[in-house]
Amino acid sequence: MKNHHLFEAALLRSAVHEVIRGFGCDEEQCALIADNLVRANLTGHDSHGVGMLPRYARAYREGSLQPKASLQQTKDAGILLTLDGQMGFGQSIGRQAMDLAISRTREHGACIMALGNTHHLGRIGEWAEMAVEHGLVSIHFVNVISRPIVAPWGGSDARYGTNPFAIGIPLRSGDRFILDFATSIIAQGKTRVAYNRGASLKPGQMLDDRGQPTTDPVYGVLNPLGALLPFGEHKGFGLAMACELLGGALAGGWSVNGPADGKQRVVNGMLSILFDPSKIAQPENFEEYAQRTIAWIKASPPQPEIDRIVLAGETERDICRERTHNGIPVDTQTWQDILQSASELGVDSQRINRCAGM
Ligand SMILES: NC(=O)c1ccc[n+]([C@@H]2O[C@H](COP(=O)([O-])OP(=O)(O)OC[C@H]3O[C@@H](n4cnc5c(N)ncnc54)[C@H](O)[C@@H]3O)[C@@H](O)[C@H]2O)c1
Repeated sequence: MKNHHLFEAALLRSAVHEVIRGFGCDEEQCALIADNLVRANLTGHDSHGVGMLPRYARAYREGSLQPKASLQQTKDAGILLTLDGQMGFGQSIGRQAMDLAISRTREHGACIMALGNTHHLGRIGEWAEMAVEHGLVSIHFVNVISRPIVAPWGGSDARYGTNPFAIGIPLRSGDRFILDFATSIIAQGKTRVAYNRGASLKPGQMLDDRGQPTTDPVYGVLNPLGALLPFGEHKGFGLAMACELLGGALAGGWSVNGPADGKQRVVNGMLSILFDPSKIAQPENFEEYAQRTIAWIKASPPQPEIDRIVLAGETERDICRERTHNGIPVDTQTWQDILQSASELGVDSQRINRCAGM
């Protein structure tokens, strides 16, 4: 039985826009948040797309997510900028913060931006892509204050979040390197996606609530929760701790230090380092060596089950082309959850279905 529907991106965007009105956002903010969420789905990251809406609705109802909050500047030392997101929607706070950091980088050649107290910043690659569109390199360390869901390397229970890390590097002719991942072996949202689809996880990704290996995604979704493992063993764990210390304790002013408090909010702290590569290197030299290296790396004969060698960011662009053409799959359970949240926010779910072309 078919358990998902394929949505045309524009229709899904308009349906999500309607849902976000239920948070009391203005039209511009609704459009921006809807666009960000649908773009996460378009790039293949369903974990950070429209399926996050029910969680946002719960965070809003408990009084954590503040849809009307605006970005505050708390420290300003020229190229060093400290910002407070006031628990606003990360999709719009993140964009405002990056706009500021980009304009500082244009002025000074570099900017280190600390952003704290922001509700879920979504797909972090979005912010690296923004910088790349302005010809800038950016590096992002992010922590997550939510239910701890990742075990430290060698540990057997969840102590911290999926702390994402991203790097964006602009390359010639509009090409770009966008490395963007959770430092857990998979993003937590991928356990929700698997659970809603009735799928199993791969072995070696998760421990159950007793610290035993499991492939059942329920341990990432419902209590009693288990723990995801860090990617890359002790190395991924080390990078996750760098995200906690730089993105959380330093930039966000808050880092994980105890068990879940039962709240539904997802708070991100982010330390972003932006710079103009043309102020560091000879652009022609950088481009020439970047292209030579990429050509050399990509010439490696692919293994039998692999089509071609891809660089970070290419998979997302391929999926985006495919989904723009064929539609975005949203499973039935996720769509029902979105409609239910919309009703609870006072938005007519029939209207949402009509906007989505259902
Ligand atoms: N805001 C938050 O709190 C939060 C927390 C965790 C994750 N996230 C986001 O979740 C999203 C998903 O994270 P993830 O860890 O599941 O991502 P993932 O495992 O899909 O890895 C994505 C990265 O790997 C690259 N990649 C994919 N296939 C490749 C291949 N065959 N060869 C070379 N490179 C390849 C991609 O281009 C991308 O840079 C990210 O956008 C991340 O920012 C956000």
